[in-house]
Amino acid sequence: MTLKLTDAYVKPFVSDKELADISGEVLAAQKSLLAKDGEGNDFLGWITLPDDYDKEEFARIKKAAEKIKNSCDIFIAIGIGGSYLGARAVVEFLKSPLYNSLKKDTPDVYFSGCNISAQSLNELLALCEGKDVCINVISKSGTTTEPAVAFRVFREMLEKKYGKEGARERIFVTTDKAKGTLKKFSDEAGYETFVVPDAVGGRFSVLTAVGLLPIAVSGVDIDMLMNGASDAAARYTTIADVEENECLKYAALRNVLYRQGKATEILVNYEPYAAMFNEWWKQLYGESEGKDGKGLFPASVIFSTDLHSLGQFIQDGSRSVFETIVSVKNADSKLAVPYDDANVDGLNFLAGTDLNEINKVAMQGTILAHIDGGAPNILIEIEEKNEYNLGYLLYFFEFACGVSGYVLGVNPFNQPGVEAYKKNMFALLGKPGYEEQKKALEERLK
Ligand code: PA5
Repeated sequence: MTLKLTDAYVKPFVSDKELADISGEVLAAQKSLLAKDGEGNDFLGWITLPDDYDKEEFARIKKAAEKIKNSCDIFIAIGIGGSYLGARAVVEFLKSPLYNSLKKDTPDVYFSGCNISAQSLNELLALCEGKDVCINVISKSGTTTEPAVAFRVFREMLEKKYGKEGARERIFVTTDKAKGTLKKFSDEAGYETFVVPDAVGGRFSVLTAVGLLPIAVSGVDIDMLMNGASDAAARYTTIADVEENECLKYAALRNVLYRQGKATEILVNYEPYAAMFNEWWKQLYGESEGKDGKGLFPASVIFSTDLHSLGQFIQDGSRSVFETIVSVKNADSKLAVPYDDANVDGLNFLAGTDLNEINKVAMQGTILAHIDGGAPNILIEIEEKNEYNLGYLLYFFEFACGVSGYVLGVNPFNQPGVEAYKKNMFALLGKPGYEEQKKALEERLK
């Protein structure tokens, strides 16, 4: 089995009856997703996506990635939320968070348009000086402020550097197939465009052009990524049994824990390369479930780093948390602790031991300590870190998220709460049409 879920460390907290009671709801949620008769059913394209995707466009993504690799030193993916996190998670997980510092034959990959920071844009502009640059602006709506501003900045930079004609060859756009200003603008300007499918929301779009183009530029094998997701889909959508189907089991366990009052789920990884994977997961679950006054709060940690900060809370703080650990069984990077004659630090008992072994023991010790402290642990393992397994894992969390959202009783595929800040920001910035709100908000800020 590609992915294993161990429930031994959560079982002490979940009775057989609780699991049996929720199983019917979980199976109904799975059925509803597949029958497309639940809430948000016009956003379920991600379920069959690993098999049912535009093969012609997929080939075009690979071709564009080759063109980008051959024509630039720096590639900037411009997007926010679901239009950025998946790509960054995969690149850092499979390559490295230090990807840009590695010796490699692919361009450095940067992510922009995911904040409103002048400093961060200025620094990236400075890095581009004297370098060849390509950009990929990614926005389903085509109207999101953060990437739109960054696109203006980098488009201006490219046009100054290469002229309008030259810049056209270096600008790639991923957006809606027909709607939105970005699509219209790109067609007029003659940029190569890729599609965010109608039925796939941002946070479920990592396996569309949204994620795949930046991922392919980094040298990751996107065929294998899709193969992994496809095999996960074949398993998780067909097995209607909570004990047999680990994806359903995960959805069931986290909902049982939530009903017990454990309202914060912490995703735990023991490798820094998974930090952005944690961020992708947090968006997936936070934006899908946090609505109507409900939902588990998705938090994340990288251990052992955070054992020296949040570890205290998890061990000993308010008993409202549980952990879901993602672990890669066989690490590809190894390093043994050196032997030291003087042994001043007393570490010779570890000399020759691979750090991965020590990291595993840290994990085992932490699991036992945390369950003793009252924090249940769900353990999810993949054998190796590779494209296939990561594709499988991405799909595991996506399908479990859809199921979980339905069990929770929300529409997991909308994000109405994201609009509130935008309206206030536009009003305060003086966007035409927001005059009344501006006055009212300014009054409140006095
Ligand atoms: O998951 C989502 O739908 C959001 O996080 C969006 O991806 C994010 O707001 C960016 O939107 P857009 O791609 O329209 O610029």
